Amino acid sequence: MIRAMRRQIRDQLCTFFSLIIAVTPSLSYYRNTADEMALMSLCLSLGLIFLDLEWRSKSVDAIPSYQSICKLVHSAVDCNGRKLSSIPENLPANTQEIFMDANFVKTLRNGTMQRYGNLWSLSLQGNNLELIESGAFSGNKRLKVLSLQDNAIFVNYPMAANALRSLPSLKKLDLSGNYLTEDMTGILLQNLSSLESLSLARNVIMRLDSTIFESLGQLQELSLEKNYIYEIEEGAFQNLRRLQRLNLAYNHIPCIVNFDLTKLWILNASYNNIEWFLAEESSANFELQTLDLSHNQLLFFPLLPKHNKLRSLLLSDNKMNFYANASNTTTSKDGLVKFVFISNNVTNVTSVNLWEEVILGNFSSLKFLDMSRNLFQYLPDGFLASMTSLSHLKLNQNCFWIINLNEREPPATLVELDLSQNQLLELQVDLYPGSILPNLQFLNLSTNRLKRMPSQFFTHLDSITTVDLSHNQLNLCPQKNRAGDRICIDFRNITSLRHLYLAGCDLEPVFDHAFRGTSLTKLDLSSNKRALLRGMHPLQDLALTLQSLSLRNNGLSNSAKADFSKFQNLLALDLSRNTLTSFPSTLNSLALRSLDLRRNHISFPQFMVHQRLVKNLHIVYLSQNPYDCCKLDWLKSLQELRTVHIADRQQITCKFSSNTVSAMELPKSITQSCLWITKDMTLLYLVLILPASLTLLVAFIILVLMVKQRLFKIVKSRWRGSSSY
Ligand SMILES: *[C@@H]1O[C@H](CO)[C@@H](O)[C@H](O)[C@H]1NC(C)=O
Ligand SMILES: *[C@@H]1O[C@H](CO)[C@@H](O)[C@H](O)[C@H]1NC(C)=O
Ligand SMILES: *[C@@H]1O[C@H](CO)[C@@H](O)[C@H](O)[C@H]1NC(C)=O
Ligand SMILES: *[C@@H]1O[C@H](CO)[C@@H](O)[C@H](O)[C@H]1NC(C)=O
Ligand SMILES: *[C@@H]1O[C@H](CO)[C@@H](O)[C@H](O)[C@H]1NC(C)=O
Ligand SMILES: *[C@@H]1O[C@H](CO)[C@@H](O)[C@H](O)[C@H]1NC(C)=O
Ligand SMILES: *[C@@H]1O[C@H](CO)[C@@H](O)[C@H](O)[C@H]1NC(C)=O
Repeated sequence: MIRAMRRQIRDQLCTFFSLIIAVTPSLSYYRNTADEMALMSLCLSLGLIFLDLEWRSKSVDAIPSYQSICKLVHSAVDCNGRKLSSIPENLPANTQEIFMDANFVKTLRNGTMQRYGNLWSLSLQGNNLELIESGAFSGNKRLKVLSLQDNAIFVNYPMAANALRSLPSLKKLDLSGNYLTEDMTGILLQNLSSLESLSLARNVIMRLDSTIFESLGQLQELSLEKNYIYEIEEGAFQNLRRLQRLNLAYNHIPCIVNFDLTKLWILNASYNNIEWFLAEESSANFELQTLDLSHNQLLFFPLLPKHNKLRSLLLSDNKMNFYANASNTTTSKDGLVKFVFISNNVTNVTSVNLWEEVILGNFSSLKFLDMSRNLFQYLPDGFLASMTSLSHLKLNQNCFWIINLNEREPPATLVELDLSQNQLLELQVDLYPGSILPNLQFLNLSTNRLKRMPSQFFTHLDSITTVDLSHNQLNLCPQKNRAGDRICIDFRNITSLRHLYLAGCDLEPVFDHAFRGTSLTKLDLSSNKRALLRGMHPLQDLALTLQSLSLRNNGLSNSAKADFSKFQNLLALDLSRNTLTSFPSTLNSLALRSLDLRRNHISFPQFMVHQRLVKNLHIVYLSQNPYDCCKLDWLKSLQELRTVHIADRQQITCKFSSNTVSAMELPKSITQSCLWITKDMTLLYLVLILPASLTLLVAFIILVLMVKQRLFKIVKSRWRGSSSY
């Protein structure tokens, strides 16, 4: 039944195909773009011809030998980017490698490389190379590696084809970025039976017919990345019996049906429009290890080869779901999906249990499964249980409501589980005695809506080191929530835990010893405005282990309460987006390497005066604080230190009267005004003091004079009196 359905799907797709070819205007657009590209490159090459001629007359002909231009290392010659218009003819005869990238070699003439009989590698990337004469490689029978990317081979491809055919040992050929169409490619590849690696990336190939790779029986690696391929004829890869790596990324492939490349190790079909991936239904052994179908339009989980060696299955960025309980109209209880086919006025309804086939496949070697950014709502029972080697599972950014972790699945081998950005309300766990997921180290549950989850869950994860629960509403046990509708999670005595992310959890004030018995090195409590209302006391159990602490947007306003003196191992501290008005002085005793003080109310970060802190600091963020433009000497000294990188220096602003300006580019007028303000102050003092002292002086003189007068009078009267005797 399944087979019949597949055939039907295939037939449907074929008609679909012919329709596309006849109707879709976008394809003619591709053809146009191809033509346009060719034209553009022609213009480009014309432009370069002139350049080239100029160069020839000026410099190249004037230089007599290669020695002054190229570098010789053993038997390799490096002439990259030397503005040469031909391969030097007087290199040592035993030269084995020539690098001529980014020059102006527009033509490879007959016989120019005749004398390099030992040459095995030639690189001519980015030369605008147009013409390779048929006999250009006639003396280079040992050439194995030829790099011709980013040239204009399309201009004279028949002749280039002749030249390539004269290379009996050619193993690796790169023709990417040469504006080649499928017809040109077919001719260029004729009889290149020694090739083992071929790149045709960034060309304008649209179809692959069954003959195009006919003669490449030794090919192991083929890249067709970034073309315009929308159709691959059946049998196109038939003769590539040794092909191991196939890259079809960035094309327009609508589906892959009847996939039968049993020898392939890696298939990269990411960034296409694939809606279906159906492997051939056979019991053949597939060597496939890596399958990348990410960034496509898959609606269903791919139907993979039954016998495979898959280790990596990349399915992110598609539209997949399992449909057994998705909709009641087309689905019955046992998970059958009904397909309605309408062809030739006959309607045929086929029921199929699509996902049963998934189970039929053997996933026992799968290690890495990425199903992120799809539309999955649930995983069928037993889906993960069959993946007995699975270590990394990414289910983030889907539509999961419930996840069930029981004894059977996911398998005990799991190391990393990412469930972030779903709609998770419930984490169902069978808390059987002993360890659940004994190898799990990383669990990301960030950005969900968790309402039910066992509070002791993490005590059962023996190897857990990293937990991200940020952006869920929760509390830390045994604290009871007032409203009572929140889960509480117990982190006490989880000895393996190192990194804990609890940002945006709307935590109640954390009680003392909430982290007792853990050895956290990294803690993120950002955006929990009430968590540390009572100061840093609740974190004291972590004082000796904590190396990185994030308290961004935590409503910290009182620098005295932010007492960090006990956290002597702290290396990174984020205090941004708080309302600190002064620099927390307890930081001075720490040996921080990174400090973030952005977006506070700090007017003067006097920390730089304190030796210990500044001596160790590598990176600091200081912007969005109300600094005074006339008091920026600290910033200057900090910059002069050179050991501290002010990461956001361009964003630092300061205030002058009511203006906010960039502190790095203070306008002259402001520096002047600042100077004036300081000068004015001395003047003001002068103006204030001078009259006062003058008055005092005058008063003193008057006083002295008055006293003098009286004395004079007294003396005079005495003298007069005595004179009367
Ligand atoms: C280059 O050599 C090929 C064969 O070796 C010959 O057919 C062709 O005419 C030659 N071209 C020129 C321009 O001499
Ligand atoms: C390719 O090789 C086959 C058999 O050796 C020969 O008949 C054919 O002419 C060759 N094609 C070209 C274009 O050289
Ligand atoms: C597949 O190709 C894309 C685009 O080049 C690349 O980003 C991705 O890493 C490749 N996948 C694998 C598994 O190598
Ligand atoms: C499925 O059934 C439920 C009730 O049984 C109904 O409310 C819902 O609209 C149905 N969904 C669809 C897609 O028909
Ligand atoms: C399709 O079938 C209906 C009845 O089954 C018939 O009346 C109609 O003529 C058919 N149309 C074509 C195009 O065959
Ligand atoms: C309808 O599908 C069934 C099962 O795939 C097949 O046996 C039958 O021949 C089909 N009928 C028509 C008219 O296509
Ligand atoms: C968890 O997932 C979120 C969203 O996908 C991501 O931003 C965050 O960096 C992840 N946490 C960790 C510890 O990697």
